[in-house]
This record gives sequence, structure tokens and C-alpha cells, in this order.
Amino acid sequence: MRQKLVVFSGAGISAESGLATFRDNDGLWENHDVHEVATMGAWRANPALVQRFYNERRRQVRDASPNAAHEAIARLEDVFDVAVVTQNIDDLHERAGSSDVLHIHGQIVRSRSSVDSSLTYPIDGWELSMGELCEKGSQLRPDVVWFGESVPLMSEASRIVASADVFVVVGSSLQVYPAADLIYHVRPGVLKYFVDPAGPGTMESQGFEHIREKAAVGVPLLVERLLG
Ligand code: APR
Repeated sequence: MRQKLVVFSGAGISAESGLATFRDNDGLWENHDVHEVATMGAWRANPALVQRFYNERRRQVRDASPNAAHEAIARLEDVFDVAVVTQNIDDLHERAGSSDVLHIHGQIVRSRSSVDSSLTYPIDGWELSMGELCEKGSQLRPDVVWFGESVPLMSEASRIVASADVFVVVGSSLQVYPAADLIYHVRPGVLKYFVDPAGPGTMESQGFEHIREKAAVGVPLLVERLLG
């Protein structure tokens, strides 16, 4: 039976694809305070601004390509039963070839009804406009989880993490909850790795091998070892 390898990724894995992280730039995300653009309050106050912000992010995601870290993770499927749980709203894991990806904070390439969260749709192109409506007649919003919103996929993500025989965290400050709690669902005795040039300084004391490299360097090195 193949071993189960679970990857938990954050914004750092896509940094070398040119997509900005959230907390490496004085708490600003592309010159916006995240609270101005990534909360339900922001959407209520100025939906057009929020829509424009995410349209710009979507355009960047579409123009970006997976990097060596996403590609190395896809190669793990040759040997392991791999599940990726990502905080990222980009689709770079899928485009690199990973076949099992759970986006706990949603997907920027999809839209969602603002009255019924079960109604989501693929977005054709990069732009979602004010006036585009769901089948129940409400404005479509990006299918992403904002600060203050619940994370409906948390229990599924916890189950996946609890099934890991090998656990790899890549490029996350582990400051955003409930996502950051996922690392506590790993079973005792499981091999744990953390690839991030910085990140919390406490990972070793929590049983992780901390590989202090950028993802596009550190992940391929780790994958070579694991595929050994
Ligand atoms: N390779 C690997 N890691 C990197 C790189 C790189 N090239 N560059 C930066 N990092 C690391 C940083 O050291 C930091 O630990 O990526 C991490 C980025 O942290 P955050 O910006 O906080 O991103 P993340 O942990 O994914 O944020 C979680 O916050 O705003 C919300 O919903 C959003 O999903 C996001 C969540």
C-alpha cells in the first residue's frame, strides 16, 4: 500500500511564480491593507473596489506559471498517495499536475453567489463584473474565504491531515486561524517537514525538520530525498 503524503501550502509556495504573499510586505497585500479588500465589511462598503482588486489578482494568477516547487509536489504522485491542502486561492498546484487539491480559502478562478454559498461557477477570463448574477439573481463575488468568514472545508482538511504518513508544510507564516491549527491534527510519529526561509521559529520544537530555503529550491531537494 502506498504511503499517504499530505502537503499543506501557503502563499510562500507561489512567491517565486510572482504572486505576492500576505505578510512579507509590512502587512500590505499589493498595497492594500487586507482588511480593506478581504472582509465581508469591505464587500458591503465597496463591492466594486473588492471586485477590481480580485480581478487584478485573477489576471496575475492567469499570467503566472507553476514553479519548481509546485512541479516537484506533482512528481510525488509517482510514489505516494498525495493530497494537497492549500490556503492559496491560485490554481498553480493543479496546473503543475497535482490531482488532489483542497482549497480551504477558496479559488480565485471561480465565482460564488452572494446569497447561496453552494452555488459556484468557473470564471471565463480574468474579469468578474458588477451586475453578473447567480441563478438566484444575486451579485456574483469571488469564491474566496474572507477574514471573519467561516472555513467550511476545515473538517475535511483536518481528516486529510490526520491521515498523513508524511506531512510537508510549505511557505506559510501559520498565523491565520483556523487554517494554522491543521498542523496539530497530524498523528504522532509522522515525519514532518517545513520548507520556508523564515516562518515560525518554533517548528523544530514541534517535531518538524525546518528546511530554511525558498520553496523552488527546498521543495525539489526534499522531494528528491522522499522519492529516494
Ligand atoms: N518560498 C517559501 N516560502 C516563502 C517564500 C518562498 N520563496 N517567500 C516567502 N515565504 C514564506 C514567508 O516566510 C512566510 O512564512 O511564506 C510565508 C507567507 O506567509 P503569509 O503571507 O502569512 O501567507 P499564508 O501563511 O499563506 O497566509 C495564510 O492568510 O490572508 C490570508 O487567506 C489568506 O491564505 C491566506 C492566509
